[in-house]
Amino acid sequence: MDPQTFFKKLDRIPDIPTLPTIVIKVNKMLQDYDASIKKLSEIIEKDQAMVTRTLKLVNSTFYGFSSKITNINHAVIILGFNTIRNAIVSVSIIKAFSGEKTLEGFEIRDFWKHSIAVAVTSRHLSEQTKLDSPDDCFVAGLLHDIGKVILSQHFTELFTQVWHTVKENGVSFYEAEQKLLPVNHAQIAGYLTKKWQFPESLVDSITHHHAVRESVSSLDQLLIVHTADSLVNKYKADSEIPPRLSSIDPEAKRVLFRQVETVSDWFPNIATEIESACEFFLKES
Ligand SMILES: [Fe+2]
Ligand SMILES: [Fe+2]
Repeated sequence: MDPQTFFKKLDRIPDIPTLPTIVIKVNKMLQDYDASIKKLSEIIEKDQAMVTRTLKLVNSTFYGFSSKITNINHAVIILGFNTIRNAIVSVSIIKAFSGEKTLEGFEIRDFWKHSIAVAVTSRHLSEQTKLDSPDDCFVAGLLHDIGKVILSQHFTELFTQVWHTVKENGVSFYEAEQKLLPVNHAQIAGYLTKKWQFPESLVDSITHHHAVRESVSSLDQLLIVHTADSLVNKYKADSEIPPRLSSIDPEAKRVLFRQVETVSDWFPNIATEIESACEFFLKES
């Protein structure tokens, strides 16, 4: 199968979760410079479930506001347009992709735990470096591996082949994909997010998160998501051993030099933040 055939097949799958209309609308607004706080509030207010969920999120420890935010307009003013948009996108996507069947080598809860960890780490890296919007980096981190869900649910045989190769040959998931599949999970995720009309920077960061040098734009957001993913993977393997950082791309290491150097100091501290994010997002779905 070549990549085109693969994507054609993907297009024909009827039950690939379609994003709720509200996400599409909110996404489109981001590219519209005239979009106002009022307009965004109006869109959210049309969907009562979304109002409840958004208010719950903005009042959760995740955003750390002590005063209670009781209406959407207030939430948007306090947290900003981007944060609210990204909160809606995050909650909706986790919800849309949570009722998936479990497969050997794939457990949806573990999948989201990893994704949330990368999202929180990406947000932290961007806050520290001021290279990109922390909220945009959070969403990019959250979606970076979404292609794995598609593979495991709709291309089960291919997924299983990859999984066995990982186990038998001790290679990474990405390396096994390169060997066996016409496209890898990063490209699948890139394809989907493009279709869902996410910003180009997000599509690029996701598509190239395992192959930074293949990106022509080489955006800071890509370097952030790539680094966050590597750090989360290293720490998950064994949090006692300082991570080997050889898997981080040299360009990412150069740009994020200070953060990579001091990772052992700050990473344990954001573990609590990761936990509280997991608790919130996974309980919601
Ligand atoms: Fe990945
Ligand atoms: Fe990942």
